[in-house]
Amino acid sequence: MTIQLHNADSLELLPTLEAGCANLIFADPPYNLSGQVFLTCRGGRPVVCNKGEWDQIADLHEFNRAWIRECVRVLADDGTLWISGTLHNHPSIGMVLKELGLWIINDVIWFKPNATPLLRANRLAPATELIWVASKTKRYYFDYEMAKRLNHGKQMRNLWVIPAEKHRTPHPAEKPESLLTRILLIASREGDLVLDPFMGSGTTGVVAKRLKRRFIGIEIDPEYYAVASKRILGAEEESLEISDTLAEEQTRLW
Ligand SMILES: C[S@@+](CC[C@H](N)C(=O)[O-])C[C@H]1O[C@@H](n2cnc3c(N)ncnc32)[C@H](O)[C@@H]1O
Repeated sequence: MTIQLHNADSLELLPTLEAGCANLIFADPPYNLSGQVFLTCRGGRPVVCNKGEWDQIADLHEFNRAWIRECVRVLADDGTLWISGTLHNHPSIGMVLKELGLWIINDVIWFKPNATPLLRANRLAPATELIWVASKTKRYYFDYEMAKRLNHGKQMRNLWVIPAEKHRTPHPAEKPESLLTRILLIASREGDLVLDPFMGSGTTGVVAKRLKRRFIGIEIDPEYYAVASKRILGAEEESLEISDTLAEEQTRLW
């Protein structure tokens, strides 16, 4: 299966991709929460949240407008765009999806039962992320039966209980492979092209390769790009029987 990895700025690389080529786009863009007053836990001590330079964007809304507009151009007419985020960026993302006239299919609430506890007793402990699911038309690919199969044969709801996994890389925002497995099984077929414009540690690419999807990944930071490339190139393609096992693993997440 073709895997294309780019150490580049998505705002420059996306315009070079062919219109309508991607069947599924999963994007986990910068949250813009670093450098603010949020505390996180490092080595058992409270520290101000700093995920890195990549998480500090001067005009977040303009940035979101620019990359989402390009993703819409690159998305197939029956493809879907999945964008994950936190309360720091999802109001802006929701606005842009509406401005661009996209069809909003779902808002998936990803609940992490093992989320990091609060360090300052001044608000509710954040334990969720929101994933927008949108398409260009109302005729989009969505494997409803697969979603049911991943949920003990029952209709799958938009609340997903998936524990945060132990990180496999030094990337501070590495997503669980089980989350991406679920998304790719529901929203793409074998051989489809999956695009991740903010590849980070390469989780989407690993799962795409495993499930025999083609993949394009873009990452601006050279160190994370190296981490992602190594991880994706080392991943094994799995046979359909193994995909069945993956499906069973998914049903055990609940
Ligand atoms: C939230 S992280 C993605 C984490 C990823 N989903 C994973 O599982 O590891 C966002 C990533 O986008 C990258 N990034 C930020 N701005 C970018 C841009 N303009 N083009 C490409 N990558 C960018 C950052 O370096 C960071 O690694």
